[in-house]
Amino acid sequence: MTDYATTPGPAAHQKIDTSVPHSARIWNYWLGGKDNYPVDEQAGDAYTAVFPGIVTIARSSRAFLRRSITYLVAEAGIRQFLDVGTGLPTADNTHEVAQRIDPGTRIVYVDNDPMVLAHARALLYSTPEGATAYVDSDALDPDRILAAAAATLDFSRPTALILSNILGHVADYDQARSIVTRLMGALPSGSYLSINDGSRGIDPVFEQAQDAYNESGAVPYNLRTVDEITSFFDGLELLDPGVVPVPHWRPGPTDSAPEVIAEHGGLARKP
Ligand SMILES: C[S@@+](CC[C@H](N)C(=O)[O-])C[C@H]1O[C@@H](n2cnc3c(N)ncnc32)[C@H](O)[C@@H]1O
Repeated sequence: MTDYATTPGPAAHQKIDTSVPHSARIWNYWLGGKDNYPVDEQAGDAYTAVFPGIVTIARSSRAFLRRSITYLVAEAGIRQFLDVGTGLPTADNTHEVAQRIDPGTRIVYVDNDPMVLAHARALLYSTPEGATAYVDSDALDPDRILAAAAATLDFSRPTALILSNILGHVADYDQARSIVTRLMGALPSGSYLSINDGSRGIDPVFEQAQDAYNESGAVPYNLRTVDEITSFFDGLELLDPGVVPVPHWRPGPTDSAPEVIAEHGGLARKP
């Protein structure tokens, strides 16, 4: 069944503001997409002028996501995904990777950006056998996310929670941890948590560029230490090779040679 339902939330009432740079649109620019405005290009170019490595981080992080989702569907048997902080449609969106392997997979996307909402139709283009839905909600409100996602996902069945470059938007670390705990707490044993996020303590130039970005008027992004990222998985069984620079996480034969970059990721199973 194709599910085109969207859940109107705070972002549905906001206009797309093209005068200030937006995270989803800058990310889309770095990923080589077209869904961005001059203000996003300027902010993206200002960032790459200081730290060109952000483009490698953005692309390596999407490659990690592809490998993580492929593992979850092809090897772990997961058929339900909750992807919070979706971003604008790009190559290999979660539902495309998952439904290529099993068209019956069901995916709920969550984002609070009005432009992502405007592109929800593209995100919602599901196989007839599976389902996709978009929830317009803030990550700070996990109860709302769970209530809306339950219209599409059966939370008595194992589900993968995807948090890809979103937790840094939650400024307070303890609050970010409690959001992860609340969302994972609603999922049964055999569910999975996939996180990849920008890491602090690896590359001072990255941190300098991020600090300047956070002063630019865009929604700030908080880099976290590797220990802090690893701690999001507390209470879960981390799969090998643990929390590592994303190019080191089970690289495939077509992936570029692993390098140490300041973007760490891991995948864990709920016991
Ligand atoms: C850097 S992009 C990451 C996109 C995608 N997950 C990826 O890794 O390629 C961050 C996304 O999180 C969304 N976002 C930022 N703050 C959010 C919040 N408080 N609640 C929900 N989504 C948020 C942005 O709109 C954007 O789409």
